[in-house]
Amino acid sequence: MARKFCVGGNWKCNGTIEEAKKIIGLLNSAEVPSEEDVEVVIAPTYVHLSLVKSLLRPDFSVAAQNAWVKKGGAYTGEISAEILVNLGIPWVILGHSERRGLLGESNEFVADKVAYCLSQGLKVMACIGETLEQREAGETMSIVAEQTKAIAAKIGSWDNVVLAYEPVWAIGTGKVATPAQAQEVHNELRKWLASNVSSDVASTTRIIYGGSVNAGNSKELAAEPDVDGFLVGGASLKPEFVDIIKSAL
Ligand code: G3P
Repeated sequence: MARKFCVGGNWKCNGTIEEAKKIIGLLNSAEVPSEEDVEVVIAPTYVHLSLVKSLLRPDFSVAAQNAWVKKGGAYTGEISAEILVNLGIPWVILGHSERRGLLGESNEFVADKVAYCLSQGLKVMACIGETLEQREAGETMSIVAEQTKAIAAKIGSWDNVVLAYEPVWAIGTGKVATPAQAQEVHNELRKWLASNVSSDVASTTRIIYGGSVNAGNSKELAAEPDVDGFLVGGASLKPEFVDIIKSAL
């Protein structure tokens, strides 16, 4: 089963209007694989979503970096899935380790967010990943399985879910997982999906890698059979992001 390569650009808490325009201008003029082959999703800050959506080439898509766990209302500072849908934003990143770690988002809370955003028609990049301590303790697979299990317990369909395996120890550190490390976890996750959800979900769900991806390592990572793309942080703000998109070829 061919899974369409997916490359997300997570700008995190970065970008001014001028910088957003410059990055989008570079992306709009880039020669990249057709959208039949590679799905590119740009995730600016909330306040830049409309600007990016208005300027971005039509064959690329836009994501929010988070969303609230339920219908909007008296939740100061939050952005609901309904607001994103109304804005015409089709994707949302949920469960990023920076939110799990800094804001204490639990597996359960992330799973509830995934379920609610899917229910409102959003496509979800659901982030999972272990810390260095957990990896060194040999707990990688149990941690990512628990994170995935929480999501699986709350959702009916995986059609609009992309799993993003982002080892916390590789995020922003320059210490990228080796292709073998990424492939091992992605393959184990696919086996977990086959055993606990269905063989169809296992074969069709895209599992993308995030954590210090750059133009120098993306080609080798992309060559792994169970690496279906990337969720890129720092390098998505640079011209090399175009090379990362092309690494699907
Ligand atoms: O969501 C992607 C991000 O966590 C990876 O960050 O800067 O290591 O590519 P970076």
